[in-house]
Amino acid sequence: MVPDLTTPSRERPLPVQTSSVQTSPQAILLADYQPFPFLLDHVALHFKLHPTQTRVTARLSFAPNPAAKPGQDMRLDGENLILHALSLDGRTLAHTPDATGLTIPAADLPDGPFVLETEVEISPETNTSLDGLYMSGGMYCTQCEAQGFRKITYYPDRPDVMARFDVTMDTDMPVQLSNGNPTGLGAWHDPWPKPAYLFALVAGDLVAHSDTFTTMSGRKVALNIYVRPGDEGKCAYAMDSLIRSMKWDEEVYGREYDLDIFNIVAVDDFNMGAMENKGLNIFNSKLVLATPETATDDDYARIEAVIAHEYFHNWTGNRITCRDWFQLCLKEGLTVYRDQKFSGDMRSHAVKRIEDVLALRARQFREDGGPLAHAVRPDSYVEINNFYTATIYEKGAEVIGMLRALVGDEGYAKALNLYFDRHDGQAATIEDWLKVFEDATGRDLTQFKHWYTQAGTPHLTVTDDFKDGLYTLTIEQKNPAAPGQASKDPKVIPVAVGLLNSDGAEVVPTTVLELTQERQSFAFEGLASRPVPSILRGFSAPVILERESSAEERAFLLAHDTDPFNKWEAGRALAKDVLMRKVIAGGDTPADWLTAVETVTFDETLDPAFRALTLRLPGEDDIAQSLHAAGHVPDPAAIHSARRAMQGGLAGHLAKRLPALIDGLQTPGPFDPGAVAAGRRALRLAALALMARLDGGASAQVAMQNANSMTEELGALAILLDVGQGDDAAAAFRLKWQGDRLVMDKWFGLQVVSAAPDRVAQITDALTKDPDFDWKNPNRFRAVIASLASNHAGFHHASGDSYRLLADWLIKLDPVNPQTAARMSTAFETWPRYDADRQALIRAELARIAATPNLSRNLTEMVGRMLG
Ligand code: ARG
Ligand code: ZN
Repeated sequence: MVPDLTTPSRERPLPVQTSSVQTSPQAILLADYQPFPFLLDHVALHFKLHPTQTRVTARLSFAPNPAAKPGQDMRLDGENLILHALSLDGRTLAHTPDATGLTIPAADLPDGPFVLETEVEISPETNTSLDGLYMSGGMYCTQCEAQGFRKITYYPDRPDVMARFDVTMDTDMPVQLSNGNPTGLGAWHDPWPKPAYLFALVAGDLVAHSDTFTTMSGRKVALNIYVRPGDEGKCAYAMDSLIRSMKWDEEVYGREYDLDIFNIVAVDDFNMGAMENKGLNIFNSKLVLATPETATDDDYARIEAVIAHEYFHNWTGNRITCRDWFQLCLKEGLTVYRDQKFSGDMRSHAVKRIEDVLALRARQFREDGGPLAHAVRPDSYVEINNFYTATIYEKGAEVIGMLRALVGDEGYAKALNLYFDRHDGQAATIEDWLKVFEDATGRDLTQFKHWYTQAGTPHLTVTDDFKDGLYTLTIEQKNPAAPGQASKDPKVIPVAVGLLNSDGAEVVPTTVLELTQERQSFAFEGLASRPVPSILRGFSAPVILERESSAEERAFLLAHDTDPFNKWEAGRALAKDVLMRKVIAGGDTPADWLTAVETVTFDETLDPAFRALTLRLPGEDDIAQSLHAAGHVPDPAAIHSARRAMQGGLAGHLAKRLPALIDGLQTPGPFDPGAVAAGRRALRLAALALMARLDGGASAQVAMQNANSMTEELGALAILLDVGQGDDAAAAFRLKWQGDRLVMDKWFGLQVVSAAPDRVAQITDALTKDPDFDWKNPNRFRAVIASLASNHAGFHHASGDSYRLLADWLIKLDPVNPQTAARMSTAFETWPRYDADRQALIRAELARIAATPNLSRNLTEMVGRMLG
């Protein structure tokens, strides 16, 4: 589609480029799935490591696949490989590879088993994509999911080809790791057949933080977290999280670890969070390294969650993997679901659920409501790395939560046991997954499957009626159109409901209503008076709930709901109503909201973390999303000032009581990373942020001086920057933390996030010229460039300066690291929400990116989908 170029730009002429995509890479379709014609029994790999001339020899033992059509050619994937030798059963072959792989014609292949040997040369040091074998801070490391293994050797790089691996390496590096159990220095044997995306190799000058774990059947497992020398003192929390994860998976899922050793390696240059390679998880160092001085409470919580996530993949992902990449949610949705429950067990289920729903709405609802919407199980992709999304991960987890709500805890446990029994060692599909639930519970899941195949967030409208003791809830579902999916069938939606009487007593406890039709009524009999409904308790389905509700009713639920999620949700909805009204019509902050928030804030019987969440106003992007959903065109500047005004109003209302709250929440004594202490710190910082609106940051200054954790130090700095009093503090912070890469990422990010809307582009631009701005490091790039996109009013400043700056950087990063460039481009996915001027500005930037010569397949696909 040709972008609209008619709107003149304010400063620079728009690019006069009309072709939006120069090459159109081939889409891969689920419908085209075919099994690989050969089985791969065993793989022997040898690496002669060298920064620019690594030699990889591979010995692949194949046999014909009885499940495939006989007589087919063998196609092996391979990218950026220099082929030095190729032989079959010892006979040299002369086939020439093309840009994406190597074909061995059927005529050259025997009818029975055969051994294919290759030797290739690769250059880890110049591999800036951080995909395949690359170097980070002097160490060799790998990332193979989804398709990095083809940058290491010629191979059938697809998850349904599972093989046993033996690996050896030749290098001077003192630490030499791969998957499975060690058989000598740099020699590894992995007894569990695995797809190539789970392969890993690490060689470097590393030190280990070690421990052991004894499994439920009494086997002793060696645990090591490998880091760069000097970081070994920052691994204790990750190790503790690992041990708790191993125990939890035994207790809750009956799953035991299956090797003699479990290694984790922290690397500084990593595109994503972490990777579940068999027995050798590789992590972004920010998700491993933590001390009270350098890591925030959020960092601690994320480390715990991601360590668990990757460990849990050992069963949900590795022992049972995906048949093809369309099934990605099979492992990711389930593993996110599992790590969320783990975190809830370790911390607080109520708080964890609220945080997960906040993240779901901020990322997944945003994605689901825009041009990048796709099904939890998509049926087509161009570049699979573009589908590691909030929809696959977080909505994928929600779908499992709904399944569990429908079949009950017992049904879920039975189904999961059957899943592990039936599919262990296999590469499975969503059909296999659903069949297990059908067989274990006798329930027909045909309609439920729509959750996997249809994109878009359902809207529920609820009305109610009360007459002669009979209370009726009528629920209607609308499934909006999504890209490529116009009409939708109704879904099965579990709606958890409770009813309260006017004293706040629960007259009907939580009941799961199953909505299966477009419109359905549910009756409750024998009620003495009209109840107050608490609908979608625990956020029982990932939907947008629309219900006419008065401020009084919301305040009542905030005060009385027995369901902690809905209690918070009532306050949130109330705040959102107020804020949206303020954006549209201006005016004062209503007293009923102020009183309701005050009551919760000072209610000592409530968890401080919960109170902190209630004090937190909806973010600007969230308001823009809701305004758009309600049929308005959001004005980012108006949202920004309304939200600040509302904060100011709240600060004024609580003024007298804030100092005592702040004092009372001090956490003296040694740092405790646990949820209770973290909740107190969160509430204290929320109170300090309000206080800063009254005292110009004086209290935050004191808090920063007395801080004894990064949470307090960074939190106070953020508050000071927010009220325009942070310049000196930021300079001092930088001086203090100059030598700590992870802390400096926070410093970079904070400058951008806290910048005033009309200065953010300039500040961001200046930071990208800072000598410490290492743009090839994804953490640093994200700290600056992704923060630009998360400064809502600044990113959407009417000048379009931020749009241009982001596009410039995406164009610059793309040839170096296409995965991260493509991921960052999603900052533009919300363009349809905004006014015609902003739409034109963003579309022009997308068109400019699309017109860039030699754009990667990753970014080409993303930009093409966003332009529609
Ligand atoms: N499987 C990893 C996880 O646990 C994510 C790896 C994604 N990497 C990528 N390049 N797409 O979530
Ligand atoms: Zn995962």
